[in-house]
Amino acid sequence: MADNAELLKALADEIRGCKACRLYEQATNSVPGAGHPNAEVMFIGEGPGYNEDKQGLPFVGQSGQYLDYLLNLINLKRETVFIANVVKHRAPDNRDPLPDEIQACCGFLDRQEQIIDPLVIVTLGRFSMARYFPNAKITAIHGKPKYETRRACLPLFHPAAVLRNPGLRRDMEADFKRIPELVAEMKQRRQSAAPAPSSEGPKPSEPPSEPPVQLKLF
Ligand code: URA
Repeated sequence: MADNAELLKALADEIRGCKACRLYEQATNSVPGAGHPNAEVMFIGEGPGYNEDKQGLPFVGQSGQYLDYLLNLINLKRETVFIANVVKHRAPDNRDPLPDEIQACCGFLDRQEQIIDPLVIVTLGRFSMARYFPNAKITAIHGKPKYETRRACLPLFHPAAVLRNPGLRRDMEADFKRIPELVAEMKQRRQSAAPAPSSEGPKPSEPPSEPPVQLKLF
């Protein structure tokens, strides 16, 4: 059976060839997502910006620098998490993605989630929040996790919103610091729900202790 890295790579190749909506027409590169194939934490942003479009990698501009700062606050290395977006091609002039574009792209994110099966999904901003918390307001629910059977979803502000409005910084950083406790909690929940490990049969997938796999551009 193909391992997660291979499955994610095959999916990234599909994303690179995707013409399901108009966004590919003006994009330089698609941005499938990057990170560890067995990540415990998956971050989901809105869509690639200027720098991401140029490099084919998620969160590499100013928002990405702030995301790195936040990851550092909780001692998480970028290579141990997976970072993806709701739409995989940049929208012209960084406009908001349109409903039909989000719809056309959502199957890719569904499959990334299924493959990685993270303990915690962190949404960054309104568009990814809407996928897990329909009709919610970010100002009302930021930092409040929702528990599902195998994972928790934590809605956070978008890093760009915090850079534009430094008044949000304190909340953002407090919300971010909830991530480690949520990971520990979900690990425990999965363990107590799991049948006792048998000495035979396949081992559960290991948490990210092996070297990370960065999805290549080409
Ligand atoms: N903003 C996003 O939502 N995603 C990126 O990848 C970069 C900036």
